[in-house]
Amino acid sequence: MKKKFFIVIDGIDGAGTTTHSSLLAGFLEGRGLSLHLTQEPSNSDIGQILRKFLKNKEIPPCTDALLFAADRSLHYYNEIKSKLDEGYIVISDRYIESSIVYQSVQSDEISIEWVKEINKFAGEPDLTIILDINPKISLARKTQEDLEKFEDTIFLDKVRELYLKRAEQKGYYIVNSDDIIEIVQEKIQKIVIDSLLNN
Ligand code: TYD
Repeated sequence: MKKKFFIVIDGIDGAGTTTHSSLLAGFLEGRGLSLHLTQEPSNSDIGQILRKFLKNKEIPPCTDALLFAADRSLHYYNEIKSKLDEGYIVISDRYIESSIVYQSVQSDEISIEWVKEINKFAGEPDLTIILDINPKISLARKTQEDLEKFEDTIFLDKVRELYLKRAEQKGYYIVNSDDIIEIVQEKIQKIVIDSLLNN
């Protein structure tokens, strides 16, 4: 089994990307594989600014898009690529698909092509899994005060539609995450193991 492998778990807010990325990391580490788990926004200074901006509705969508791309290029070169080169399997909780989907849905002035262009410096994942859930279900668990600017059902319905369309076009795996965690995680593990074995 080749070890160097870049996995992305993506999907709408509340779909469980953080929970499932972390469970998957534990599962693969338990099998003796060298594993590096990371997330976007990253832990860099740019990532910290982005986290602040998630609470601020006054930030122009193009600023978000450019900052996410800047954060990602830094994240890729300083962390993801370095870890892959050292022979690690890297799991990223969100990556370019988050920008393609969220930023293009945010504004009619932001095209998917432009988002791809500004993200061209970040390397492609080997495997992308999209977790899918109805936003009405995913947001019901959060209190109104905790909601970040993208956590709105009407917006997330559009985001979800675009994730599903992109997944179909690009051949990404889609896993329905509206089920008990263990069952969803098992489906993810199966996809990952099959992909690792076939790599
Ligand atoms: P999220 O995974 O929800 O972080 P947390 O679980 O810590 O709240 O991600 C933060 C938000 O950022 C989420 O609403 C999606 C959004 N986002 C983008 O709009 N574009 C991007 O490129 C990325 C990585 C995230």
